[in-house]
Amino acid sequence: MSCLTISGVGKSFGGLRAVDRVSFAIDNGELVGLIGPNGSGKTTLLNILSGHQPPDAGTVLLDGKPIQHLKPERVAQAGLLRMFQLTRVFRRMSALDNLLTAGRALGLTHRQAAARAEQLLEELTLERVSDLDAGQLSGGQQKLLEFGCCFMVPPRIALLDEPFAAVHPTMKETMAGYIRARYAEGQTFLIVSHDMPVIVELCPRTVCMNAGAVIADEATRAVLNDPVVIEAYLGGEAA
Ligand SMILES: Nc1ncnc2c1ncn2[C@@H]1O[C@H](COP(=O)(O)OP(=O)(O)O)[C@@H](O)[C@H]1O
Ligand SMILES: [Mg+2]
Repeated sequence: MSCLTISGVGKSFGGLRAVDRVSFAIDNGELVGLIGPNGSGKTTLLNILSGHQPPDAGTVLLDGKPIQHLKPERVAQAGLLRMFQLTRVFRRMSALDNLLTAGRALGLTHRQAAARAEQLLEELTLERVSDLDAGQLSGGQQKLLEFGCCFMVPPRIALLDEPFAAVHPTMKETMAGYIRARYAEGQTFLIVSHDMPVIVELCPRTVCMNAGAVIADEATRAVLNDPVVIEAYLGGEAA
């Protein structure tokens, strides 16, 4: 059975079809890239998947169960965790406390959360800033911290929205290395990124959206060479 099945999902804002009858499925252990020009509906689709916006149409199944009308907390508890394009951490809480809070919200005991947080701080090279307020961390460190919050309890599927944007190359490699290692262990991912070299390197398969619709869904290199995809990036979306 697929881990995540998206069927005929749509969302309009006034007259604008931000997401237009999107259907695709992600199998257990897949690492799928999601690309598309600015405004093509990627973040809106992730908002629907994570319960932050209700769809106007369609269904989202997580392990065969509909989740499209659940609230974000319930979706997260069901195992679908989300990282935001605009970083969301508790700025006036320490980095460590951000991780502990995420772990407690996902049902860990304090002791379990503390052990897990220690491990993640080390793996994400954040040990030295663990006691600083998250708001004092660099943009890249905040991204790494939010990323860590998604993995306090390994999710059924991790949705990452532009995790590498404006992140220092060293931290980008830390994050990419962590993703590679978890993927090798069977973790399932959907990753939105404009960073094509990273998408090519990490993702065997990529879905491309344009003007709300899926225009390509196949092996990453084939997607990047698809004339329809190239046209979309060059601004041919008037068609
Ligand atoms: N809350 C909203 N209200 C109105 N329009 C929105 C809203 N959210 C997104 N949009 C519009 O929907 C389209 C898709 O946006 P988005 O999903 O953010 O695209 P992407 O993440 O691919 O850049 C854009 O035209 C955007 O302006
Ligand atoms: Mg976006």
